[in-house]
Amino acid sequence: MSEPLIRTEGLTKRFRSGGGLFSRERVMTAVRDVTLEIARGEVLGVVGESGCGKSTLARLILRLIETTEGSVVFDGTELTALPPTALRAMRKRMAMVFQDPYSSLDPRFTLAEVLAEPFRVQGHDLPNDAVPAMLAAVGLPEALATSYPHQLSGGQRQRVGIARALALHPDLVVLDEPTASLDVSIQAQIIALLADLRDKMGLTYLFISHDLGLVRYFCDRIVVMYLGSVVEVLPNTQAAPRHPYTDALMRSGFAPDPARRREIVPLGGEIPSPFALPAGCAFATRCAFASDRCRRERPPLSQGLSHPVACFHPL
Ligand SMILES: Nc1ncnc2c1ncn2[C@@H]1O[C@H](COP(=O)(O)OP(=O)(O)O)[C@@H](O)[C@H]1O
Ligand code: SF4
Ligand SMILES: [Mg+2]
Repeated sequence: MSEPLIRTEGLTKRFRSGGGLFSRERVMTAVRDVTLEIARGEVLGVVGESGCGKSTLARLILRLIETTEGSVVFDGTELTALPPTALRAMRKRMAMVFQDPYSSLDPRFTLAEVLAEPFRVQGHDLPNDAVPAMLAAVGLPEALATSYPHQLSGGQRQRVGIARALALHPDLVVLDEPTASLDVSIQAQIIALLADLRDKMGLTYLFISHDLGLVRYFCDRIVVMYLGSVVEVLPNTQAAPRHPYTDALMRSGFAPDPARRREIVPLGGEIPSPFALPAGCAFATRCAFASDRCRRERPPLSQGLSHPVACFHPL
């Protein structure tokens, strides 16, 4: 098997808050001991409820934030210890598309300026035909080059976000809920565009979503996260879930919008605080199969089953 494009090992991020003269320092774990690989050309999906650590995991992989523990190897290079100049050169090979294309595009810049930005940041000259070519690649007319972001529709803005991410021809693109703020019909067009660009440019995607249906449609493998940990890695979109959490999500037509979570996910029980994670399985408070062992010990992401599952009593 060829080397994966990305390999993380024991990746962990803790955020500290407080700790001044009058407040006790509090430490929360946003990403906990995540080991995973992304193959070249793969679309790896990451799903889980809001706040489970999906965006933090993506930022750690791109080293937009520093890791607390663990390692990220990108195409054979350890990123966590890379000095700034080497990191900047490496950044050319990775890009991110954000959920809200409006807040991620500077309203003062025309589209031509927005699309020139990645070249400027990397100290490259902007090729003459680059802006029209980038607009055409994402299905936008050249005439929009002199428009400002507020003059575009949501779908058009997200096309600009994608064009900007692909400007320097990266290897890895992180798509962080790229269609979550768009209408369903526009969502389908953006997904089709992403699939087309991946084929044409040989891209590797890390596709983050809270919508399991969308992830099952678009991704090759699916990582399921719960409270910062990976609880299951589905090897393909047809695989039956073996973790009780994934199973509950699938049966409920998973769309864990926090506002609707109570209705959609048929799970009782309190969710533990990320400031005080339990010693045992973090899902035990909501799991119908929880045993004494589950409350005492933390289940590792076991490789012995049909696919990786972190559960003592898999389905
Ligand atoms: N910069 C930060 N400082 C403190 N806590 C953070 C920070 N970024 C994220 N968090 C916390 O980490 C947890 C995971 O957040 P996030 O990765 O954004 O989740 P998701 O993308 O799955 O919704 C949340 O509880 C969030 O409040
Ligand atoms: S380890 Fe136990 S509590 Fe955790 S998901 Fe499996 S059965 Fe449920
Ligand atoms: Mg997020």
